[in-house]
Parts: sequence; structure tokens; C-alpha cells
Amino acid sequence: MVLFIDTANLDEIKEVSTWGYVKGVTTNPSLIAKEGLSQKDIITKIVTLVDGPISAEVTAEDYEGMIKQGEELFAIDPKHIVIKLPMTNEGLKACAYFAKKKIPTNVTLCFSPAQALLAMESGATYVSPFLGRLDDAGWDAIQLIKDIVTMKKNYGYETKIICASIRNVAHVTNCALAGGDIATVPYKVLAKLIKHPLTDAGLESFAKDAAKTPKN
Ligand code: G3P
Repeated sequence: MVLFIDTANLDEIKEVSTWGYVKGVTTNPSLIAKEGLSQKDIITKIVTLVDGPISAEVTAEDYEGMIKQGEELFAIDPKHIVIKLPMTNEGLKACAYFAKKKIPTNVTLCFSPAQALLAMESGATYVSPFLGRLDDAGWDAIQLIKDIVTMKKNYGYETKIICASIRNVAHVTNCALAGGDIATVPYKVLAKLIKHPLTDAGLESFAKDAAKTPKN
């Protein structure tokens, strides 16, 4: 399963871009708002840091506005920008428009198999089911991933599933077990994926033993 970082923070993106296993970035209006810069300024900087898909979300609510804003965002870097669109009828209409033009899209705020089906039928490049927010509301988020994976297989959709709203390490591994294509993960959770107490204990004992070994 491919890993993206879910952030608009440039320091976090710079740091994970050195790790090698983080292959893309997703942003949303709330993440952008935390950074104190315009969306255009942030996205323009992110594209210089990451050679992979970078989702930039439209905030317009009507079809024409989404097309205009989406095209402006795409023009920042047509090699990397993915236009993130909301799960609304206007968003899906815009998705179909961009699909015809072979411009990549990410349909976000997906909470049900029916919504995912509509995104896939609209030609979305990516669909983003939200795990954490579903779990918070008492729904079975991993079952949603499994259902979307089944629908993809049944009909051969090429839409990739970005497991989003990730809150913990178990979300990441359970998405991988369920067959999600990508998980977009906040920095704090990404940094925890490598951690295991037995690895730390093993490193400590190897370092002690290495110090005792005669040098040439
Ligand atoms: O970017 C979409 C999604 O990952 C948001 O996550 O934590 O705000 O539910 P969260």
C-alpha cells in the first residue's frame, strides 16, 4: 500500500520527503488554514518538495466555480496536482468534466459504499473514504474500505482508494489488510509506523555488544 502524508505543513513535508517511503501529499482547506499562507503559496512550495501526486482541494461549491478553481490549481504543476473535489452532485459533475480532460481528481468526504460507487462511475482518479471520522461516529470504517475494494474488483474500476482521516497505526495496517491502494497519514502517525519496543531493545543490546568488540 502506498503512503501519502496528509498535511499542508512544509516542515513536515520536507522531513518525510527524505524518508523514501512517502510518495505523495493530500491537503484540505482545514490543513491549509493552519499554515497562515494562501493555498496557492503552499501548493506552489509543496510541488518543489515532492515528486508525486499532490491533492489540492477546491472550495467553490458550484460546478463552474470548481472548474475555474480546479484549473487554476492544476496549472500550478500539471505533472503533480490532483484536483480534490467534494462528494456533492456539483463535485461529481466537475469530476466527470476533469476525467474527460484526463486531469486527475480525488473525490473526498466519502463515507459510504454508494458514494464511492458514484465517484468511481464519475471517473475519479482517487476516492477518499474517511476512517477516523466514521469510527468517531460509531461506524465500521474498515468494512467501508473492504466494500469499496470489492466494488472495484467486481467492475474493474481503475479509481484508487485513498484511505483518509487516519488516526492511528492500526488504521494504516488494517487498511493495507483490507486492500486499500493508498493511506494518507498525518505526520505523527507516519512517524509511529516504524516504532516497536523490541526494535529499540535490540538496537540497544547490539550497540552495547558492538562497543565490546575489538576493533582492527
Ligand atoms: O484530508 C482528509 C482527511 O484525511 C481529514 O482527516 O483527521 O480531519 O478527519 P481528519
